[in-house]
Amino acid sequence: MSDLPNVDGAAFAIPALIDPQPQALPHPPRILLLYGSLRERSYSRFAVEEAARLLQAFGAETRIFDPRDLPLPDSVPADHPKVAELRALSHWSEGQVWCSPERHGAMTGILKAQIDWIPLEIAAMRPTQGKTLAVMQVSGGSQSFNAVNQMRILGRWMRMITIPNQSSVAKAYEQFDEAGRMQPSAYYDRIVDVMEELVKFTLLTRGVSAHLTDRYSERRAPG
Ligand SMILES: Cc1cc2nc3c(=O)[nH]c(=O)nc-3n(C[C@H](O)[C@H](O)[C@H](O)COP(=O)(O)O)c2cc1C
Repeated sequence: MSDLPNVDGAAFAIPALIDPQPQALPHPPRILLLYGSLRERSYSRFAVEEAARLLQAFGAETRIFDPRDLPLPDSVPADHPKVAELRALSHWSEGQVWCSPERHGAMTGILKAQIDWIPLEIAAMRPTQGKTLAVMQVSGGSQSFNAVNQMRILGRWMRMITIPNQSSVAKAYEQFDEAGRMQPSAYYDRIVDVMEELVKFTLLTRGVSAHLTDRYSERRAPG
């Protein structure tokens, strides 16, 4: 440490990896899926339901949060049942999928409000840190990446491992049948790819998440 005088030497060493076989965890990967619309026929919900089916086929356990009746952030105490449900699901999950419609060139407030109800830290527990994340969007117009790009920033802020692949479904109204099932297309294949990648990243990282997110600045003695 002689040429690093401002470094706390006691905290500097990278802690040993406790579990060298993260894939060996016995339970299926746990994935929470969030969508960003309350429309009766919502394509972002349909896309998330399609993603959940694929995740189950890849061996994951899935939960989809229904954002209906979730109050706006800070308008009620955090023990509101919908807020408590969302936080418990986030805590339960090892990976997440966020799928927002693009509205006015941005993710929807409904998607953002869900994330804003999940604080980075609750009583020393971080409900999103170190979990994997896949981002998806649906649009009414031509293919766009505004919402997924914003959700990548949000994922970074929530200290999540956002996977490289992503899905953006253009003209979403052409992609789903009456029953809400997605038609075969390159967009569908892309969602398969994204879910496959999410499961792989989750299997590889979930057992070592605490190790990956351990930080020098939080190990070192205060002062
Ligand atoms: C107020 C409003 C703004 C929208 N802005 C955009 C936009 O900027 N880009 C786009 O491609 N589609 C836009 N759309 C179309 C939506 O992305 C499309 O209807 C999408 O399917 C909505 O998601 P949902 O089906 O899950 O409700 C907009 C729709 C509304 C109602």
